Amino acid sequence: MTHLLSIADLDREGIEEILRVADAFAEVEKRPIPKVPTLRGRAVATLFFEESTRTRLSFETAAKRLSADVLSFSAASSSVKKGESIRDTVETIEAMGMDALVVRHSSAGVPVQVSRWVKRCKVINGGDGWHEHPTQALLDCFTVRQLRGGIDGLRVLIVGDIRHSRVARSQVLAYTTLGASVTLAAPGSLLPPSLEGWPVEVAEDLDDALGNADVVSLLRLQAERGSGAFVPTLREYTAGWGLTARRAALLGGDAIVTHPGPMIRGVEIAGDVADLPQAVVTRQVTNGVAVRMAVLFLLLGGVL
Ligand code: NCD
Repeated sequence: MTHLLSIADLDREGIEEILRVADAFAEVEKRPIPKVPTLRGRAVATLFFEESTRTRLSFETAAKRLSADVLSFSAASSSVKKGESIRDTVETIEAMGMDALVVRHSSAGVPVQVSRWVKRCKVINGGDGWHEHPTQALLDCFTVRQLRGGIDGLRVLIVGDIRHSRVARSQVLAYTTLGASVTLAAPGSLLPPSLEGWPVEVAEDLDDALGNADVVSLLRLQAERGSGAFVPTLREYTAGWGLTARRAALLGGDAIVTHPGPMIRGVEIAGDVADLPQAVVTRQVTNGVAVRMAVLFLLLGGVL
């Protein structure tokens, strides 16, 4: 792996290798001192041009557990505000001796651009516009595989604002590469403009699809990407597409509900449903650290 920009950079063996390495790193958290010296002397910078809670903290925790040095850059409090370009910002940060850059931006394609500008840094996509969020999909797969023993043959249902979701795009690639089938459920306005080439089906009836799913991935309405213009009102959206208590009762006994966060309780998921044992949101967060440790380790060639 040179960079991790898209799930499409990985074949099945590549994804499975990351999940296997993540298995090994998951145990580090349970140690009295949750740290290994694997990336001692390496430096990882998180370059976030868009808000984040989980992804940034998770990458920073992962890098620290591997004993790397961590630099945290937020566009909002940087010289980007004074008009500095992304390229100059990247070159400035790389010139401080970074080994890896985790990049998040509201525009699709920025991490790919950054990967062309850097001289020696490895670039990881931490979410770019509507395009992709590869480590989120990897941690979702890791979580489902941990609970179900594997992904092959599972039926995954992705519900919500698929049109604007980078998570959905990465999930479709990751789950199908690992042998699951993927069904999308959303109002027509929140499906992508074209599904040509997507290895998915579209659910005709949400209730039926929920009853048949092994995994339900819920997505937040991406208000910052204009989703408000695509639904009549939030209340109607919830009535039609939210995982309400009534709908949650249709799920199979061992179905898993995932959400990348941030969850908006009462919109895409009822507050009580988010607290059911089937909803594995905090487990996803815990696993996210191990998966990002694996990605950093494999990209930076640390020593085990
Ligand atoms: C997602 C994102 O930013 O793409 N969150 C995350 O990284 N865990 C999903 C979202 O913001 O809805």
